[in-house]
Amino acid sequence: MSCDDTVDCGRRRLLVATAAAGGVAGVAVAVPFVASMLPSERAKAAGAPVEVDISKLGPGQMMTVEWRGKPVWIINRTKEQLDSLPKIDDQLADPKSDKNMQPEYAKNETRSIKPEILVAVGICTHLGCSPTEKFKTGADSGIAPDWPGGFFCPCHGSTFDLAGRVYKSKPAPDNLEIPPHMYLGDAKIVIGEDKKA
Ligand code: FES
Repeated sequence: MSCDDTVDCGRRRLLVATAAAGGVAGVAVAVPFVASMLPSERAKAAGAPVEVDISKLGPGQMMTVEWRGKPVWIINRTKEQLDSLPKIDDQLADPKSDKNMQPEYAKNETRSIKPEILVAVGICTHLGCSPTEKFKTGADSGIAPDWPGGFFCPCHGSTFDLAGRVYKSKPAPDNLEIPPHMYLGDAKIVIGEDKKA
C-alpha cells in the first residue's frame, strides 16, 4: 500500500526513522570499543605511550618515532661508540646527568636501560631545534678532528655526545631529555610509560 499524508502513514514514517536511528546508535557503540584498542591520533598527541619494534635496528643505526608530538630517537650504539663515552666526560657540562633530565633507571654512564640502546628526545635543550646526527668520527664529521660521534644542533651550534650529553660552553644548558620508557621484550620498547600496568 502506498503511503500518503494520513496520520497512519506519518506514524509509520516515524517508526522507520526511529529504527534507523537505533541502528546508527548500535554502530556508534561498537566503534569506540574497537578504537580503544589502538591509541587514536588525539590520544597519541596527548601522550599515549607508543610501542616501537627495534628488531631491525642494527648496530650504529638510528630511528625516530613520534611521542607527544616530539621526535624520539632510538640509537643502537656500537661497542666503539659506547667505549668513547667515558673518555670525554671532562668536555661535557653535566657528564653524570645530575640535572635530573632522565628517569632513575637511566642514570648511568650510557643514560639507558640497555647499554647499547639510547632512547632520547631529539629536541635541543636551548631553543628547541632538532639536532642532526653526526656519527662520523674525526675530521670527516666536520665538527672537530677528535670528534667521537654525536649530534650537532644547526641553530646555534650546541653539540651532544652519543648519550645526548651536552658539551661544555654551548648554548644548550642541559643534556637531551630521556623520556620514560620500558622494554616489553628484547626488541620492543614502550615510550611514554615505565611501569607495567
Ligand atoms: S636551539 Fe640548539 S643550539 Fe640553540
